[in-house]
Amino acid sequence: MTIKDEMKRRRTFAIISHPDAGKTTMTEKMLLFGNMIRSAGTVKGKKSGKFATSDWMEIEKQRGISVTSSVMNFPYKGYQINILDTPGHEDFSEDTYRTLTAVDSVVMVIDGTKGIEAQTLKLFKVCKMRGIPIFTFINKMDREGRESLDLMEEIESTLNIETYPMTWPVGMGKRFMGVFDRENEQFVQYTGNEEETYIPFSELDQHPELTNHPTYQESLDELMLVDEAGDGFDLDKVMKGDQTPVFFGSALAPFGVETFFNTFINYAPEPAPRHSTEGVVTPDNEEFSGFIFKIQANMNPQHRDRVAFVRICSGKFERGMNVNLSRTGKTFKLAQSQQFVASSSSTVEEGYAGDIIGIYDPNVYRIGDTLVTGKNNFEYDELPQFPPELFKKVTAKNVMKSKQFKKGLEQLVQEGAIQLFKHYHFEDYIIGAVGELQYEVFDYRMKNEYNVDIELTSIGERIPRWIPEEQVDQSMFDDRNMLVLDREQKPLVLFKNDFSLRWFQDKYKDIELIDLFEVN
Ligand code: G4P
Repeated sequence: MTIKDEMKRRRTFAIISHPDAGKTTMTEKMLLFGNMIRSAGTVKGKKSGKFATSDWMEIEKQRGISVTSSVMNFPYKGYQINILDTPGHEDFSEDTYRTLTAVDSVVMVIDGTKGIEAQTLKLFKVCKMRGIPIFTFINKMDREGRESLDLMEEIESTLNIETYPMTWPVGMGKRFMGVFDRENEQFVQYTGNEEETYIPFSELDQHPELTNHPTYQESLDELMLVDEAGDGFDLDKVMKGDQTPVFFGSALAPFGVETFFNTFINYAPEPAPRHSTEGVVTPDNEEFSGFIFKIQANMNPQHRDRVAFVRICSGKFERGMNVNLSRTGKTFKLAQSQQFVASSSSTVEEGYAGDIIGIYDPNVYRIGDTLVTGKNNFEYDELPQFPPELFKKVTAKNVMKSKQFKKGLEQLVQEGAIQLFKHYHFEDYIIGAVGELQYEVFDYRMKNEYNVDIELTSIGERIPRWIPEEQVDQSMFDDRNMLVLDREQKPLVLFKNDFSLRWFQDKYKDIELIDLFEVN
């Protein structure tokens, strides 16, 4: 197969959801389709404890979680599937957001009994900002949940995206009978068995037990309404992230997952061309290129090894090949490379655009770095900065250690483990994070890698808004709306809460407040 054929069959995506919506159950079913696991319950047993993914970090062991996202890849129906995990719960961190820079599409799993929840909304915003195609699976239809029309309404108004129901459910909970599959013009019957039963629309009149049921009639009326009043399917809009195809089912049953997955891989985009300092780079370009979106430190505590996760964007990766690190112009041999399959990793010999590989990092790579072969050492667009929500003041417990403290701080910030801010007037360092876990990792690594005990003092959850340098007037700020500088010396305000943000906006109407998460 040519490089082009290989990249065309790649489907690289992440599943975004709020904890407990069913992401793990869904991932598990997909791995079952790919014959990657033999039985359900092997991906993660929150209760069974089977998911001892790695004993890379003490923290992982202590907390029984995987600190950073992992990658699963498997062949399915001629496609090569790459699923990137987006850690939630307490392990929600900037890595979760950054993972979304390495995918070509996203599956949004929504708990049908709850609707849009906080974490889904945050991750959705990142996808929308980046124009990533989003496919929606409304889960837990085997339970009494919210009305389907109501859920569609909520997705459209809360997320500001058009919906196109690819399937439409008949009933829910105990009355759940199946879904109309509009795409394939068939009814997928819920029988309680794992196998899905399909009845072509043209043969439905031979099933009066179904069609005469009041629940079926009710759903058919809704579907007609959706057909008439709803938006038509528009693949262009889907590809821009302006329309989301919606599917209904139950990941647990499982029901509707196979219908979803088959339609999804058919429509989900192959790896897209990407912007770089040399213009657009197409994924079938002969020269290898990729960028680092995550660095996992201390995978082996004895060796302080780090693994850099590379999203391949063009060409062909071969183990042992030489690549240039564009930022420095230096050449490295990629001898140790790993691919990740569920909870284990194995050596990877080759890869193409869309694939994710883990490479050994002799402490030279940074998040956002571009690796290339060929004459031009171009760089892909910088990874975006994601707004932190939690802020803590950090000091070294022992002032004698200030040199190591600064070194550790600098390196961990550069690596993207944490964001660093400085008080506008004082020498205070403030650490910003997306999730509490980042502080734990930071504290642990400062101690273990730089031998510095640190003190973290919370200044609480804050709302960060950047402001133009020329608009800074120091008399406007105090503790409730604290003025700080980011790494690039750009000023921003950390508002104590919504109230202080609104108060400030009212008082200083001319000041432009920039929200990194604004969705148009
Ligand atoms: P997450 O990764 O998004 O956090 O969710 P996960 O798949 O772990 O699912 C959360 C809970 O919801 C699990 O139950 C799971 O069995 C259940 N669940 C997932 N999909 C469905 C569905 O389609 N229908 C119903 N009724 N339940 C579903 P749990 O009791 O918390 O854990 P477990 O003991 O089953 O693992």
